[in-house]
Amino acid sequence: MSESNIESILQEKRLFPPTAAFSQNAQIKSLEEYQQLCDRANSDPQKFWAELAEQELHWFQKWDTVLDWQPPFAKWFVGGKTNISYNCLDRHLTTWRKNKAALIWEGEPGDSRTLTYAQLHLEVCQFANVLKQLGVVKGDRVGIYMPMIPEAAIAMLACARIGAAHSVVFGGFSAEALRDRLIDVEAKVVITADGGWRKGAIVPLKEQVDKALANNVVPTVTSVLVVQRTKQSVEMQPERDFWWHELQKTVSADCPAEPMDSEDMLFVLYTSGSTGKPKGVVHTTGGYNLYTHITTKWIFDLQDTDVYWCTADVGWITGHSYIVYGPLSNGATTLMYEGAPRASNPGCMWDVIEKYGVTVFYTAPTAIRAFIKMGEQLPNARNLSSLRLLGTVGEPINPEAWIWYQRVVGGGRCPIVDTWWQTETGGIMITPLPGAIATKPGSATRPFPGIMADVVDLEGNPVGDNEGGYLVIRHPWPGMMRTVYGDDERFRRTYWEHLPPTNGQYVYFAGDGARRDEDGYFWVMGRVDDVLNVSGHRLGTMEVESALVSHPAVAEAAVVSKPDEIKGEEIVAFITLEGTYSPSDKLSKELKQHVVKEIGAIARPGVIRFTDALPKTRSGKIMRRLLRNLASGQEITGDTSTLEDRGVLDKLRGEG
Ligand code: WT7
Repeated sequence: MSESNIESILQEKRLFPPTAAFSQNAQIKSLEEYQQLCDRANSDPQKFWAELAEQELHWFQKWDTVLDWQPPFAKWFVGGKTNISYNCLDRHLTTWRKNKAALIWEGEPGDSRTLTYAQLHLEVCQFANVLKQLGVVKGDRVGIYMPMIPEAAIAMLACARIGAAHSVVFGGFSAEALRDRLIDVEAKVVITADGGWRKGAIVPLKEQVDKALANNVVPTVTSVLVVQRTKQSVEMQPERDFWWHELQKTVSADCPAEPMDSEDMLFVLYTSGSTGKPKGVVHTTGGYNLYTHITTKWIFDLQDTDVYWCTADVGWITGHSYIVYGPLSNGATTLMYEGAPRASNPGCMWDVIEKYGVTVFYTAPTAIRAFIKMGEQLPNARNLSSLRLLGTVGEPINPEAWIWYQRVVGGGRCPIVDTWWQTETGGIMITPLPGAIATKPGSATRPFPGIMADVVDLEGNPVGDNEGGYLVIRHPWPGMMRTVYGDDERFRRTYWEHLPPTNGQYVYFAGDGARRDEDGYFWVMGRVDDVLNVSGHRLGTMEVESALVSHPAVAEAAVVSKPDEIKGEEIVAFITLEGTYSPSDKLSKELKQHVVKEIGAIARPGVIRFTDALPKTRSGKIMRRLLRNLASGQEITGDTSTLEDRGVLDKLRGEG
């Protein structure tokens, strides 16, 4: 976090209590009600979650055991049978919601579609039958590499319906990144599109899939399903590739939802850590369904008249939990937008809000900072009076951005929910409940009922009010990740053994630094490990370094970040070259492009700095702390006595 950010947090002391008008009709109406929920959950967590599971979801068969906790492995609602696709679709068909809009979609070129619950159910059933026809059975894994079109959600729900686990890979990832994930997850089928629209250009998704699968390097994949989105021509490999729309016509519309065990795998989603290759985060059926359902309902305060819009991509956990599963499980209207602000239409987000009368809007601080930069005349030129609640996620929000969001987008009347969570947590963990909790700009406020968050030191001891420490969670919760796909040990090591147990109890280590103030409000400061947050996207320094050293010119690479006004953080790569290469602008550009090819555009370094040597300790560890100081143009702080060669630092500094 930048100095100016910390400064403004210190200065911004205003408290924004919920208005009486909002609280009156809210799902959770007062601080007392919130407190009662927390008390109930804390005194008997299993009873709390079991009552909600019973009230809020449909079960083919009730569970025998609410929680089986063999630290760090949790099983929720053991013995229960349910299906998240049933909960998101079928159960609404017997109510008035049958003909309610489930999914409103707006394409970038201006085309649009609305699917009612009945229509979405039909498409999902048909596509589930297509998957079956291609030999997909319960327990198989299916890769999804799609633009933001309704078929992305349909594909996810169809997998869930027949018990295949999906693994969505963000459409901005490169063919190489896609290939690695498909190999790790052992996908049987890949679902993609001929292309998707992005800022006026076509992203050639099918072409990337072809590259990822070339030379049979992913032998588990037997079929590729292609949605016709852009109608540009693509190569179709006989017997492997099929058009979605052609197969949809050949199947029956009847496909009952498969009763799944609560703990059957629902999906694997890859995310970056501080070491090694990205981890496949595993989420299962029952607990994830309950947790995303109840957090969506209480945090976004869903009412039947809401038009709810989360601007994330389905390739991230936010898209899984808060575009698809959470909203649909609640029978809400969820909006999906293919586009992003672009030169030809910088105000497109406001157009969408006005066109559909969006009431709840959930986006990221990096987007808000970009909106600020484009100027308030854009939102001011649209009628945004339908909005009643705003949300933010992905990184700490600087108070200036919070205040602007509140004033310009929210017209001063909408509460803001700053929601802290992670791919691993499945759903939102620390957040205001908008009718109950007064907000402070820059704070995610208080834990969701049933979430036992704390701030501790390296020994695992709680720290005092306003003292910095590590953010941890003390008790298992239904939405938590179950393991790293294929690597239980890595799961244990990364999240549960990073800090010593407290009174013999394992604690979940989130990887974020935080402090709790005198009112019990949490202030999340950002990652404490080697994980970067660029425009709300999570990247491991090691991943970017491996991509760089795979280029023949690079001998060594050390990646850090520096604060960036819009993106939050920007990647700075320090590079030493192989003997025959010398620094040049051309090489710098080439290396940036190389990272884009290896990982994707989100990982493109902003700055490449060539150096003769990297600052290392006597034992050969790169001293990133010093590089971070250098990258952001700050004075070198802290101890440099372990540095092997002080000359390296002086040289780097000299380059400025
Ligand atoms: C990391 C998780 C699941 C949300 C999308 C990102 C940071 C997320 C906040 C927030 C401060 C936040 C944390 C976290 N983060 N939301 N409201 N305030 N920091 O999911 O890719 O798994 O990244 O994003 O550093 O650990 P993710």
